[in-house]
Amino acid sequence: MEILQGKNILLGITGGIAAYKTPELVRRLKDHGANIRVVMTEGAKAFITPLTLQAVSGNGVADSLLDTQAELAMGHIELAKWADLIVIAPATADAIARIACGMANDLLTTICLATAAPLAIAPAMNQQMWHAQATQDNVARLAARNVKIWGPGSGEQACGDVGLGRMLDVPELVDLICQHYQAHATSPNKQTTLSGQRWVITAGPTREAIDPVRYISNHSSGKMGYAIAQAAQQAGASVTIISGPVTIVSPKDCNVINVYSALEMHQHALEQAKNATVFVACAAVADYRVSEIAEQKIKKSNVELQLNLVKNPDIVADVAALAKRPFTVGFAAETQDLEKYALGKLKRKNLDMIAANNVATAGQGFNSDNNALTVFSKSKTIELPLTSKEQLAKQLVTLITQQQSKSE
Ligand code: C5P
Repeated sequence: MEILQGKNILLGITGGIAAYKTPELVRRLKDHGANIRVVMTEGAKAFITPLTLQAVSGNGVADSLLDTQAELAMGHIELAKWADLIVIAPATADAIARIACGMANDLLTTICLATAAPLAIAPAMNQQMWHAQATQDNVARLAARNVKIWGPGSGEQACGDVGLGRMLDVPELVDLICQHYQAHATSPNKQTTLSGQRWVITAGPTREAIDPVRYISNHSSGKMGYAIAQAAQQAGASVTIISGPVTIVSPKDCNVINVYSALEMHQHALEQAKNATVFVACAAVADYRVSEIAEQKIKKSNVELQLNLVKNPDIVADVAALAKRPFTVGFAAETQDLEKYALGKLKRKNLDMIAANNVATAGQGFNSDNNALTVFSKSKTIELPLTSKEQLAKQLVTLITQQQSKSE
């Protein structure tokens, strides 16, 4: 963790119960050599005292925009310039809303506007507040501005509710902060964290021929799978896409294997997965194919036409069953009971991670340029709010990398 040595991290604390975890966060970051300055909102001081944060950080705590003494020394502009990363933890719904609107009505929000440093927020709030459309809209706005959204996690909440909204634990936040610096350590444009890794990604729909002119398929555009491929490639991985028929342009520098049917995709996936580090099954594979493809075009008749369908092999489950398997990630596109179905698939297909999205929600999922995901692994749930598929892919690649390194 020498990566944190000498780094200037500004920790913004807002008024949530998870504020009680922040002295521990400061201590762990200082253990790794980071310089920490703390800015607290009025709400934060109701949960934890500035004196505590001053003692653990070894620096004075700033809490007022209009403090004449403070403005003489480390004023808000100086703090904004000093930081090479701003982390707001916990970030309440109110703080998120104010930052999303560009308000500058306290010291912390003013610094957020005045800084050129990257900003990361660790949301923490009641699960209903997290799911509120207003909060989701605000988070999506921040994500679209490249603000890093770390969490929230899921579990029992201080108010007694259970669900998404818990601030990530201190070790998870420390990991994310390290990864942030690692990603920027090599080159600002090209991360090399995945160099030496081989990622295989299935994308797009499959087509199951009925006769020479007709087929069964679905609305998958391939955009999400291609965005993940691009993000992994840009992070330094060597990437192979096994793609069903799509009309979008392949990402630069990825190897693309074009396939048509589920059986073809299955064959190539098993071959490619053998020496892959990560396998991401983003394709919308047709569950069934006709038992016998008609050699000639089926002619219309006045009676009903019956097609006999047989089940296609489950590609991702077969990859996960390989003796030497890659870190295996599935997708679940659902129209209801997202969590129940996604967790069922995680278990049944023996996946390391599953990214679930609600395809019944307008403006996201199939064919759209935007998406939102809930990512489940065996131990945790992370919400990636609505944003462009490109941004979402970068966040998902980071999550996969984190989980993958933990499982090694
Ligand atoms: O079971 P369901 O189709 O909902 O599961 C979705 C996940 O399984 C996706 O990751 C998809 O790519 C993968 N899948 C597969 N082969 C199939 C069906 C789904 O790899 N035949």
